[in-house]
Amino acid sequence: MRKHLKTTLFMGKTSLITGASSGIGKELAIELAKQGSSIILVSRNENALHQLQNDLTLLYAIPVHVLPIDLSKTKAAIQVYEFCKTHHLQVDILVNNAGFGMATEREFSDPVTLEQMITLQTTTVTVLSSLFSRDMMNNGEGYILNISSICARTPAASTLTYSAVKRYILQYSKLLHCELKKRNITVTCSLPGATNTCFDIHSALPVPCSLRRFYVSPNFVARKSIEGLQKNKTIVLPGFQTKLLNLIGLCIPDRMIYALHKKWWAEKRSFFLKK
Ligand SMILES: NC(=O)c1ccc[n+]([C@@H]2O[C@H](COP(=O)([O-])OP(=O)(O)OC[C@H]3O[C@@H](n4cnc5c(N)ncnc54)[C@H](OP(=O)(O)O)[C@@H]3O)[C@@H](O)[C@H]2O)c1
Repeated sequence: MRKHLKTTLFMGKTSLITGASSGIGKELAIELAKQGSSIILVSRNENALHQLQNDLTLLYAIPVHVLPIDLSKTKAAIQVYEFCKTHHLQVDILVNNAGFGMATEREFSDPVTLEQMITLQTTTVTVLSSLFSRDMMNNGEGYILNISSICARTPAASTLTYSAVKRYILQYSKLLHCELKKRNITVTCSLPGATNTCFDIHSALPVPCSLRRFYVSPNFVARKSIEGLQKNKTIVLPGFQTKLLNLIGLCIPDRMIYALHKKWWAEKRSFFLKK
């Protein structure tokens, strides 16, 4: 059944969402479609993207485009940009959401996945933001939402380089926000905490079930992140736990947080593996 659209700032605009096939990215696409934005869905899983395309078209009667692509390859960002040019799609809202993590121990034995994780969440995010913000400057307005993680503030010993790349996204977004604010372009960085998606499975990061009760829903993260973007916020902290962790990250040195997390994780992980 077709649903009524909410009249908002994003009505009639076009949003490009990376990592839209599942989890937070899928919810971001649904929320933006609800607000009357046309949608460009980008990630690798073509079937999942087409399924979402059908659902969004049926529910909200908006144009939905699909681009299946591996964003961890160099030049992927340029290909995404060229796809939009070829199809005459002017991107008003860019959402850099695609990402995955990796267990610290695995980093030392799997350089290929390590490189993919870094490229996806540094090079691709940066080049997409640069290419589309140039067009946004010419159009006189635009919005960029980058999904980082609370690991950017409180580094997790369980996933070392992931924490570092998420801090890169945070730092890059903050500086880009300063650079572009006078050009009427908003850049917002969202720092979600543990969220109930398939992230743990996709990232092969085992999490004890007991911790799942503290997770927030991906829809909550998506709504808060979009609200923050519309309010021109530099940083969004979706949920109380994330706000608390952010405060801890600002008060305690990284090396102490890392050491505490390493100890805690070692205990949790061995307990989890025994079960
Ligand atoms: N869940 C959490 O607890 C949590 C907390 C903080 C931050 N985050 C961040 O939130 C974002 C979304 O994660 P999620 O929790 O929604 O996990 P998810 O359900 O695993 O979603 C990850 C998305 O990224 C896409 N992706 C992964 N590798 C890709 C690649 N090489 N090329 C293109 N797309 C790729 C996946 O699509 P395909 O597999 O179809 O390519 C999927 O749509 C990530 O950046 C993650 O770091 C998550």
